[in-house]
Amino acid sequence: MSNRTFTMIKPDAVKAGNIGNILQMINAAGFRIVAMKYLQITKAQAEKFYEVHASRPFYGELTEFMSSGPIVAAILEKDNAVADFRKLIGATNPAQAEEGTIRKKYAASVGENAVHGSDSDDNAAIEGNFFFSGLERF
Ligand code: RTP
Ligand code: MG
Repeated sequence: MSNRTFTMIKPDAVKAGNIGNILQMINAAGFRIVAMKYLQITKAQAEKFYEVHASRPFYGELTEFMSSGPIVAAILEKDNAVADFRKLIGATNPAQAEEGTIRKKYAASVGENAVHGSDSDDNAAIEGNFFFSGLERF
Protein backbone atom coordinates (compact mmCIF):
# COMPACT_ATOMS: atom_id res chain seq x y z
CA MET A 1 0.00 0.00 0.00
CA SER A 2 1.36 3.37 -1.00
CA ASN A 3 0.25 6.85 0.00
CA ARG A 4 0.25 8.46 -3.44
CA THR A 5 -2.01 8.37 -6.47
CA PHE A 6 -2.20 10.23 -9.76
CA THR A 7 -5.25 12.02 -11.18
CA MET A 8 -6.35 14.06 -14.17
CA ILE A 9 -9.35 16.34 -14.39
CA LYS A 10 -10.38 15.43 -17.94
CA PRO A 11 -11.24 17.85 -20.80
CA ASP A 12 -15.02 17.51 -20.31
CA ALA A 13 -14.86 18.62 -16.67
CA VAL A 14 -12.46 21.45 -17.49
CA LYS A 15 -14.76 22.70 -20.29
CA ALA A 16 -17.78 22.49 -17.97
CA GLY A 17 -16.04 24.76 -15.45
CA ASN A 18 -15.70 22.09 -12.77
CA ILE A 19 -11.99 22.31 -11.89
CA GLY A 20 -12.75 24.19 -8.67
CA ASN A 21 -15.61 21.91 -7.63
CA ILE A 22 -13.54 18.78 -8.18
CA LEU A 23 -10.48 20.14 -6.36
CA GLN A 24 -12.78 21.08 -3.49
CA MET A 25 -14.01 17.46 -3.25
CA ILE A 26 -10.42 16.17 -3.42
CA ASN A 27 -9.35 18.49 -0.60
CA ALA A 28 -12.44 17.72 1.49
CA ALA A 29 -11.64 14.00 1.21
CA GLY A 30 -8.26 14.61 2.84
CA PHE A 31 -5.86 14.41 -0.11
CA ARG A 32 -2.79 16.65 -0.11
CA ILE A 33 -1.57 18.02 -3.45
CA VAL A 34 2.03 16.92 -4.09
CA ALA A 35 2.23 18.21 -7.68
CA MET A 36 -0.16 19.87 -10.10
CA LYS A 37 -0.24 21.33 -13.63
CA TYR A 38 -2.71 22.64 -16.22
CA LEU A 39 -1.82 21.56 -19.75
CA GLN A 40 -3.04 20.04 -23.01
CA ILE A 41 -1.46 16.77 -24.15
CA THR A 42 -0.98 15.70 -27.77
CA LYS A 43 -2.69 12.67 -29.31
CA ALA A 44 0.70 10.89 -29.28
CA GLN A 45 1.17 11.63 -25.57
CA ALA A 46 -2.35 10.36 -24.82
CA GLU A 47 -1.59 7.17 -26.78
CA LYS A 48 1.57 6.66 -24.72
CA PHE A 49 -0.22 7.34 -21.42
CA TYR A 50 -3.06 4.89 -22.24
CA GLU A 51 -0.80 2.31 -23.92
CA VAL A 52 -2.27 -0.51 -21.76
CA HIS A 53 -5.62 0.08 -23.48
CA ALA A 54 -4.14 0.01 -27.03
CA SER A 55 -6.08 -3.11 -28.07
CA ARG A 56 -9.42 -1.90 -26.65
CA PRO A 57 -12.13 -0.72 -29.06
CA PHE A 58 -12.36 2.66 -27.28
CA TYR A 59 -8.61 3.47 -27.53
CA GLY A 60 -8.97 5.87 -30.51
CA GLU A 61 -11.93 7.67 -29.00
CA LEU A 62 -10.25 7.86 -25.58
CA THR A 63 -6.95 9.29 -26.83
CA GLU A 64 -8.76 11.73 -29.16
CA PHE A 65 -10.85 12.95 -26.21
CA MET A 66 -7.95 13.21 -23.75
CA SER A 67 -6.00 15.39 -26.20
CA SER A 68 -9.01 17.53 -27.18
CA GLY A 69 -8.53 20.25 -24.57
CA PRO A 70 -6.63 21.21 -21.43
CA ILE A 71 -6.55 18.94 -18.38
CA VAL A 72 -5.37 19.29 -14.78
CA ALA A 73 -2.82 16.61 -13.83
CA ALA A 74 -1.89 16.04 -10.19
CA ILE A 75 -0.17 13.73 -7.73
CA LEU A 76 -2.16 13.32 -4.52
CA GLU A 77 -1.13 12.04 -1.10
CA LYS A 78 -3.16 10.34 1.63
CA ASP A 79 -3.04 7.02 3.49
CA ASN A 80 -4.35 4.30 1.15
CA ALA A 81 -4.39 6.88 -1.66
CA VAL A 82 -5.08 4.65 -4.68
CA ALA A 83 -8.07 2.79 -3.23
CA ASP A 84 -9.52 5.79 -1.42
CA PHE A 85 -9.31 7.94 -4.54
CA ARG A 86 -11.01 5.27 -6.67
CA LYS A 87 -13.81 5.31 -4.07
CA LEU A 88 -14.05 9.10 -4.27
CA ILE A 89 -14.28 9.16 -8.09
CA GLY A 90 -16.79 6.28 -8.39
CA ALA A 91 -17.43 3.75 -11.16
CA THR A 92 -16.05 4.28 -14.69
CA ASN A 93 -19.62 4.56 -15.99
CA PRO A 94 -21.27 7.49 -14.15
CA ALA A 95 -24.64 5.72 -14.42
CA GLN A 96 -23.19 3.13 -12.02
CA ALA A 97 -21.31 5.58 -9.80
CA GLU A 98 -22.46 5.94 -6.20
CA GLU A 99 -24.08 9.11 -4.87
CA GLY A 100 -21.55 11.63 -3.63
CA THR A 101 -18.78 10.51 -5.98
CA ILE A 102 -17.06 12.88 -8.41
CA ARG A 103 -18.25 10.96 -11.47
CA LYS A 104 -21.83 10.80 -10.21
CA LYS A 105 -21.80 14.58 -9.87
CA TYR A 106 -19.77 15.69 -12.85
CA ALA A 107 -19.42 12.92 -15.46
CA ALA A 108 -21.70 12.69 -18.47
CA SER A 109 -20.83 9.30 -19.95
CA VAL A 110 -18.42 6.35 -19.73
CA GLY A 111 -16.20 7.98 -22.35
CA GLU A 112 -16.27 11.50 -20.89
CA ASN A 113 -16.13 10.77 -17.20
CA ALA A 114 -14.58 13.88 -15.63
CA VAL A 115 -11.59 12.36 -13.82
CA HIS A 116 -8.86 9.74 -13.98
CA GLY A 117 -7.57 7.84 -10.99
CA SER A 118 -4.66 5.37 -10.95
CA ASP A 119 -5.67 1.73 -10.50
CA SER A 120 -2.57 0.50 -8.60
CA ASP A 121 0.44 1.76 -6.69
CA ASP A 122 2.74 0.79 -9.58
CA ASN A 123 0.63 2.67 -12.12
CA ALA A 124 0.36 5.67 -9.79
CA ALA A 125 4.16 5.93 -9.82
CA ILE A 126 4.43 5.40 -13.59
CA GLU A 127 1.69 7.95 -14.33
CA GLY A 128 3.07 10.56 -11.92
CA ASN A 129 6.50 10.18 -13.52
CA PHE A 130 4.94 10.67 -16.97
CA PHE A 131 3.90 14.22 -16.03
CA PHE A 132 6.19 15.44 -13.23
CA SER A 133 9.89 15.76 -12.52
CA GLY A 134 11.30 15.61 -9.00
CA LEU A 135 11.57 19.42 -8.95
CA GLU A 136 7.82 19.74 -9.46
CA ARG A 137 6.83 17.77 -6.32
CA PHE A 138 6.32 19.32 -2.90
P1 RTP B 1 -9.43 5.99 -15.62
O1 RTP B 1 -8.29 5.08 -16.01
O2 RTP B 1 -9.64 7.13 -16.58
O3 RTP B 1 -9.36 6.43 -14.20
O4 RTP B 1 -10.78 5.16 -15.72
P2 RTP B 1 -11.07 3.69 -15.18
O5 RTP B 1 -9.86 3.09 -14.56
O6 RTP B 1 -12.30 3.80 -14.34
O7 RTP B 1 -11.42 2.94 -16.52
P3 RTP B 1 -10.43 2.17 -17.54
O8 RTP B 1 -10.97 0.81 -17.73
O9 RTP B 1 -9.01 2.34 -17.11
O10 RTP B 1 -10.68 2.98 -18.87
C1 RTP B 1 -9.96 4.18 -19.11
C2 RTP B 1 -10.89 5.21 -19.69
O11 RTP B 1 -11.30 4.80 -20.98
C3 RTP B 1 -12.59 5.31 -21.25
N1 RTP B 1 -13.49 4.21 -21.55
N2 RTP B 1 -14.37 4.27 -22.50
N3 RTP B 1 -16.42 3.68 -24.31
C4 RTP B 1 -16.10 2.78 -23.39
O12 RTP B 1 -16.65 1.71 -23.29
C5 RTP B 1 -15.01 3.10 -22.50
N4 RTP B 1 -14.53 2.31 -21.55
C6 RTP B 1 -13.56 3.02 -20.95
C7 RTP B 1 -13.06 6.03 -20.01
O13 RTP B 1 -12.79 7.42 -20.16
C8 RTP B 1 -12.20 5.43 -18.94
O14 RTP B 1 -12.12 6.29 -17.85
MG1 MG C 1 -7.98 3.09 -15.49
